[in-house]
Amino acid sequence: MNPAIDSADAVSDPDCLADGGQGLVEARGVTRKLGSRVLVDDVSVAVGHSEILAVTGPSGAGKSSFLRLVNRLDEPTEGTIFLKGRDYRQIDTPDLRRRVGMVMQTANLFPGTVRGNLSFGPAQRHQTLRDQEIDELLLKVGLPGYGGRDVNTLSGGEAQRISFARTLANSPNILLLDEPTSALDEDSGRAIEELILKVSSDEQMACILVTHNASQALRLAKRTMYMARGKVVALGPSKEVLDAHSIV
Ligand SMILES: Nc1ncnc2c1ncn2[C@@H]1O[C@H](COP(=O)(O)OP(=O)(O)OP(=O)(O)O)[C@@H](O)[C@H]1O
Ligand SMILES: [Mg+2]
Repeated sequence: MNPAIDSADAVSDPDCLADGGQGLVEARGVTRKLGSRVLVDDVSVAVGHSEILAVTGPSGAGKSSFLRLVNRLDEPTEGTIFLKGRDYRQIDTPDLRRRVGMVMQTANLFPGTVRGNLSFGPAQRHQTLRDQEIDELLLKVGLPGYGGRDVNTLSGGEAQRISFARTLANSPNILLLDEPTSALDEDSGRAIEELILKVSSDEQMACILVTHNASQALRLAKRTMYMARGKVVALGPSKEVLDAHSIV
């Protein structure tokens, strides 16, 4: 028998849902169609406090498209997302984006200083990040004293950690990570992994981590969702899912 749990069973299995069946973030039947193409097909999954869910599958499976639905960068054509039980269509977009942070494959920092980058999100909400808060964020990502550095002088790994800190500056409770270490060397990647584990546990965040790296999924995520052609093929304990589905 295939040990990986079928998605429909997994969603009705209370052990597979944090918070006793209602996640901090929960996708219910989310679908995105573009003309005749179905990028994301009826995906249902919930992720709870301090939980990291890995999402994997072949290139073109719809993993990034799914993440973009979770913070409403794209609109589901069917289904919706619930944040703490509330349909996200009832939440103002700026508030939604603050609560659901996203870290991409590459850092995409704005030109200027590290401090400027960290202050950007709060400034958009007319909040000033105090120097002490900046210091705390930089300490959290292991780069104390970097506030005045020009982002052009950062290594790839450092830039990714600043990108992380910029997302954390918005105090999100859900973190979407789209292959956050794939452009990094192994040591820098491991540093980012440590950060993901730390923020997920210290700040009780729900994390959805898209990765092509099976060992990374095993290190970070108790559960893995395997997607192909937009659909959830398997959702369950990482080892079982990854043993059953080799990642292309
Ligand atoms: N804006 C778009 N318009 C049309 N098709 C799109 C668009 N964005 C993505 N697609 C298509 O949707 C499918 C899923 O793409 P997606 O980027 O979500 O895959 P992925 O699983 O993240 O792949 P990878 O592992 O390569 O990053 C692909 O066939 C892709 O070509
Ligand atoms: Mg992708």
